Amino acid sequence: MAEEAKKRVFSGVQPTGKITLGNYLGAIRNWTPLQEQYDCLFCVVDLHSLTVAQVPAELRKNTLDLVALYIACGLDPNKSALFIQSHVHEHAELAWILDTVAYVGELNRMTQFKDKSRKHADNINMGLMNYPVLMASDILLYQTQYVPVGKDQVQHVELTRDIAERFNARYSDTFVVPECLVSKTGSSIKSLQEPTAKMSKSDPNDNAVLSLTDDADAIRRKLRRAVTDSDTDVHCVHHSANKPGVSNLLNIYSLMSGTTVAEAERLFEGKGYGTFKDAVADVVISVLQPIQAEQKRLLADKSYLESVLKDGAEKASCIAQKTLSKVYRKVGLIPKIR
Ligand code: TYM
Repeated sequence: MAEEAKKRVFSGVQPTGKITLGNYLGAIRNWTPLQEQYDCLFCVVDLHSLTVAQVPAELRKNTLDLVALYIACGLDPNKSALFIQSHVHEHAELAWILDTVAYVGELNRMTQFKDKSRKHADNINMGLMNYPVLMASDILLYQTQYVPVGKDQVQHVELTRDIAERFNARYSDTFVVPECLVSKTGSSIKSLQEPTAKMSKSDPNDNAVLSLTDDADAIRRKLRRAVTDSDTDVHCVHHSANKPGVSNLLNIYSLMSGTTVAEAERLFEGKGYGTFKDAVADVVISVLQPIQAEQKRLLADKSYLESVLKDGAEKASCIAQKTLSKVYRKVGLIPKIR
């Protein structure tokens, strides 16, 4: 397929806290096969992280760790542009223009804004509210067709579509209106301690979250402590409303081992929860250990990571510049005299 004819994919993860198994199964893992078919850009969205208080040195470390993790999980810099959001200044510039198209009312209704405002009541900054506009800017800047995300980001992608359509109607056709790609099974991995809530990197309870950097002991310990129910063995798990903890673990097992949930269910039918949880731990450890080793190796090779980021930002900037100048022209700004 000619490069020009390929449809474009964009997605990103915030370099905040520890990247979770939910981020992996709901997002990063699903990006790798897309590289074969689409023109892909994968971004570490550091500007988004600033909406909650960060320790600058930790943010810098988390950002590079995430770049290395992307590659360790199978993103190939020769196939996709891997870059850091703040390296392409057009993201923030387009966000300003889109701010003049987005409505306060619709931003106020965003579920994540409401959740984060509750969690960070002492720091409800403008960036927190504006966050989905910056996300719209990330996506629209690259004339993206597909945005692979977990369920919790679907509302933001829908808002992005509304903003794109509104802008196109007001200023004539400018943006591709993007679509979400949401995995049927991995899009909502639940907390190990409260299996009706999503597994979240900002969860203060470390036992609730499997981090991609957890060692084998931590993974086994957290899974052994995972909340299940008062039954003693695995059965009837497809009634997930009644058994959210066991269903979540079966889902994790199935995604990590490549079996279907029905096969996994048959495999553990009648087995005690202890045996089942250990088997989930075994498969999680076997998938994560090689990723962790590769991430460590890559982090030791700083000049390689820098070259990946330089190339990625160059490729992204080239597309971003074109879109931004088109937008500036459409809204009536005079181009800079060169
Ligand atoms: P973030 O960093 O919170 O999460 C990154 C990706 O992981 C998915 N995810 C999950 N999937 C399944 N189960 C879970 N428990 C789980 N937790 C998180 C998220 O849905 C997401 O796909 N706003 C975004 C980052 C972003 C972005 C973008 C994404 C900024 N600009 C443009 C796509 C396109 C965010 O905070 O994701």
